[in-house]
Amino acid sequence: MEAAGSEDAISFQDEAVDKSIFKDCNKIGFYRRQKLLPRKNTYRALLDSVTSGKDSTKFQIINEVNKVPLLAEVYGIEGNIFRLKINEMAPLNPRYEISDVLIQKPATKRLTPCPGDTGTLVLKDDSGNLKFHISANPFKIDLSSEEEPVLSINSTGRLYFEHLQMPPKHESQDDLGLWQEKFGKFVDIKANGPSAIGLDFSLHGFEHLYGIPQHAETHQLKNTSAGEAYRLYNLDVYGYKIHDKMGIYGCVPYLLAHKQGRTVGIFWLNASETLVEINTQPTVEHMLSQEGSVLAKQKVKAQTDVCWMSESGIIDVFLLMGPTPAAVFKQYSVLTGTQALPPLFSLGYHQCRWNYDDEQDVKAVDAGFDAHDIPYDVIWLDIEHTEGKRYFTWDKKKFPDPKRMQELIRSKKRKVVVITDPHIKVDPMYSLYSQAKDKGYFVKNNKGGDFEGVCWPGASSYLDFTNPKVREWYSGLFAFSEYQGSTDILFIWNDMNEPSVFRGPELTMEKNAIHYGNWEHRDLHNMYGFYQQMAAAEGLIQRSNGEERPFVLTRSFFAGSQKYGAVWTGDNKAEWGYLKISIPMLLTLSVAGIAFCGADVGGFIGDPEPELLVRWYQAGAYQPFFRGHATMDTKRREPWLFGEENTQLIRNAIKERYALLPYWYSLFYHAHVASKPVMRPLWVEFPKELETFDVEDEYMLGSALLIHPVTEPKATMVDVLLPGSEEVWYDFRTFVHWEGARTLKFPVALDSTPVFQRGGSVIPMKTAVGRSTGWMPRLPYELRVALDSQGSARGELYLDDGHSFQYLHQKQFLHRKFLFSAGVLSSSGADENGHYHSECVVEKVVILGINKQPSSVTASCPDMADTQVAFTYGSKTSVLRLEKLSLNVGVDWEIHIK
Ligand code: GLC
Repeated sequence: MEAAGSEDAISFQDEAVDKSIFKDCNKIGFYRRQKLLPRKNTYRALLDSVTSGKDSTKFQIINEVNKVPLLAEVYGIEGNIFRLKINEMAPLNPRYEISDVLIQKPATKRLTPCPGDTGTLVLKDDSGNLKFHISANPFKIDLSSEEEPVLSINSTGRLYFEHLQMPPKHESQDDLGLWQEKFGKFVDIKANGPSAIGLDFSLHGFEHLYGIPQHAETHQLKNTSAGEAYRLYNLDVYGYKIHDKMGIYGCVPYLLAHKQGRTVGIFWLNASETLVEINTQPTVEHMLSQEGSVLAKQKVKAQTDVCWMSESGIIDVFLLMGPTPAAVFKQYSVLTGTQALPPLFSLGYHQCRWNYDDEQDVKAVDAGFDAHDIPYDVIWLDIEHTEGKRYFTWDKKKFPDPKRMQELIRSKKRKVVVITDPHIKVDPMYSLYSQAKDKGYFVKNNKGGDFEGVCWPGASSYLDFTNPKVREWYSGLFAFSEYQGSTDILFIWNDMNEPSVFRGPELTMEKNAIHYGNWEHRDLHNMYGFYQQMAAAEGLIQRSNGEERPFVLTRSFFAGSQKYGAVWTGDNKAEWGYLKISIPMLLTLSVAGIAFCGADVGGFIGDPEPELLVRWYQAGAYQPFFRGHATMDTKRREPWLFGEENTQLIRNAIKERYALLPYWYSLFYHAHVASKPVMRPLWVEFPKELETFDVEDEYMLGSALLIHPVTEPKATMVDVLLPGSEEVWYDFRTFVHWEGARTLKFPVALDSTPVFQRGGSVIPMKTAVGRSTGWMPRLPYELRVALDSQGSARGELYLDDGHSFQYLHQKQFLHRKFLFSAGVLSSSGADENGHYHSECVVEKVVILGINKQPSSVTASCPDMADTQVAFTYGSKTSVLRLEKLSLNVGVDWEIHIK
């Protein structure tokens, strides 16, 4: 959000993004320098320098032009991962290395050198499947798996390493931004001079790439050869443009490549400004010649060249060798951690607005949900709830008794989220400011004073979250004794943490601002928001003495942010195009490890027409983080303000979300323990089906539900791809079924969102919904059993108290599995380590795809005589309904259908 900067003079720009505020690639010095270089591989590996240790194999590389030696280190890491690090042998000053992203020192395994041709070094892992083939001159690496070439490094000769140097004695013309770089009125003076790096990767046989969020772009990465590179530079871009590769809000420097038979990942661990070029040559078939009547064809395989370029730091890259999508997700999570298990309430619906004005307003909105019978879990307070944008305070007039307000919300079993941004108002009377100032906890400017920029409160300094002491102190601010007016139902929203600096270059911080350890902002810019969310999440854990799970939403993020909470896609617009792009944006975040993600429902900027709002609720109900939000100058848009018919449609959408919460929660547990995204692109579930590889208007929720949101106005029909020739798909509402491997022309009205259940799955649901998740633990379950072509199905349910860490420390959880096979539905333990007492019962079972009317249905539990179960069967629909069951969710039972 761009603003004039003073409290009274906030001006909103509601038009198109002013792109002149932001750089395109040609304005970026290190990009121009790398692009100008002739494409010639001038690096040579010195194979007589090879040393092979337990952890790594090291050797030198020399640039034939400047003779500066680099040190390369190759690591084999448990679980099919390689790491390549390249740094200067003896840099003039240390170069920045990221320390807080990897969750642990990766477990290395020895790579064994084995004989190769002269001028080559071959390293293989202990299985002998993976080989690292290093050619000395010119320097290049080929990685193969079972002799199949997978990827090559520096084969297009774009290894680039600017060694640190002393400043030149005489000023010279510097239009390549070596020692200083101009952008508009801003001049970036570079104390360390040029320090950029770059490296290319050729992916053999791959033409489908994904990842490197965040861009308002397609899920499948595009070829950049004709235009801009993908930029990874966290920026506050109000109303960002759609189909653009500029960097917005957050990034994860990690991409995945997929082809039939193999998925791989490249994780470029660097937090400075980064650009990624992608150049795909798709598979082509050449006609070679005609011999007699026979035409000879030659298939030239696809190849994609990826070039990563960063402004500073070192080359530190992880190659995740898959081979399956699930294996790559696992490998990435071994490095950066898995999605934190969210408290259950945070999977409900969130109601936000800039701003809910005062306590009365909050009360009225909260009551509105009850009056209109719409479930919701959290009401949010934006920056206006504070005393003049001083975070951790309350505006005394509007919120005279914040605890009273929270008690009211608590009595409804709901929560409150408040915003705390990283900028701190420069005001010696504001104790947070004076404390941080006294302790030296702000980011410094390049003159050694506290950095000052402009943000919501006017002149502000920025907490240096990269300093562990600052994080510790910040975490402490969430203690109930410190944060006046806070209670344990208050959770946190971190915004503007790119960081946003209204009058700064590209609306962010000068790159030569100084952080803890004397590092320049340039080195770690993309991690600033990551560190804030880390400290906030830790603060919420600490205030509960380590007992309760935190909830923190962040706008800016980096690799590993999934460990600290949720991410949303920032300031979108109330336009159809933004609803549509939310799907690929969230899919991209999801495959990059950030499972808990969402987009502002309704669109943040502008007033959605009712149809768009309804469609957005219907889509948002099936996206992981589900929050309605709107900016200040929009009309109020609580769900009941658009007439009874629309209220009903929105109510239905939100209720569908609540009914499916057991499934959502189980999926999040799975993401937490087994690294699988909750929202999955089709290619992840159907890795062999070529036609799924570029689909981004529909997706899977877990492996059982296929969702195709309606994103066009006045739609009467959507084309739904039902993949898989072996699959059966059931309409989730009418239970009509189709075989897979087809595109359905699916008629839609305003009350329908195409949702399909995959044959072979069991989905746990609730038979009814409450006013919030807090009212639902005792409500009975329904199991939706959808049979596959073999007449079987399986599914899972995860259950715990929904808020504490007891699932982890005391193993207080239930993890059940449901199996249907040969006419028997059984419930048994999926993880016998877990124990959790629940009174809850499975009350209803609906089985889809049963071909003949049963003559009897009986239920049996260990401590109970077999009981007859009442059932109804629809022969037209092949649906069997079992109702009035009372099978405890935590015990083993069977239902026999004869
Ligand atoms: C930013 C956020 C938006 C928030 C506003 C005021 O624009 O992206 O969600 O409402 O700041 O805090």
